[in-house]
Amino acid sequence: MIRTILHYPDKRLREKGLKIEKVTDEIRTLIDDMAETMYAAPGVGLAATQIGESVSLFVIDVAEQDEPSDLRVFINPEILEREDAITWTEGCLSFPGVTEDVDRAAKVKVRALDRDGKVFTLEAEGLLAVAIQHEYDHLEGVLMIDHLGPLKKRLVHRKMQKRADASA
Ligand code: NI
Repeated sequence: MIRTILHYPDKRLREKGLKIEKVTDEIRTLIDDMAETMYAAPGVGLAATQIGESVSLFVIDVAEQDEPSDLRVFINPEILEREDAITWTEGCLSFPGVTEDVDRAAKVKVRALDRDGKVFTLEAEGLLAVAIQHEYDHLEGVLMIDHLGPLKKRLVHRKMQKRADASA
């Protein structure tokens, strides 16, 4: 089922993703909903907190359009290592129409559970590494706007507030 994606400045985006104690069928249904919602948007990543579910879970698919889909599920993710630096022009489904440069680690090592509740570790770089950090931020209640300097932050805030006012 396609779920509604919350847009900044919705306060629910500031909620943290709580640890998932057990990967149940209910969680797997949530994962399916999140994947469907992400693909429909379309986007390369979606965190549970973006659809108002405050649990520690995100999905990512960074496959190119002409490649087969490559859905990755991260439950209770932990970033174990961050290495080197990269600046990436990022977008976010909670900030429609906004793209801004964000400084990130170029490589990360992450540990999480998959949809079967099995632990895995993954070393990632490039877009996948950036997406993991972006979605991990969401689970901490941190948004891309928080990474911007004061001037850009104000501009993006104003743009999104105007958008919210227009649709209210
Ligand atoms: Ni985002």
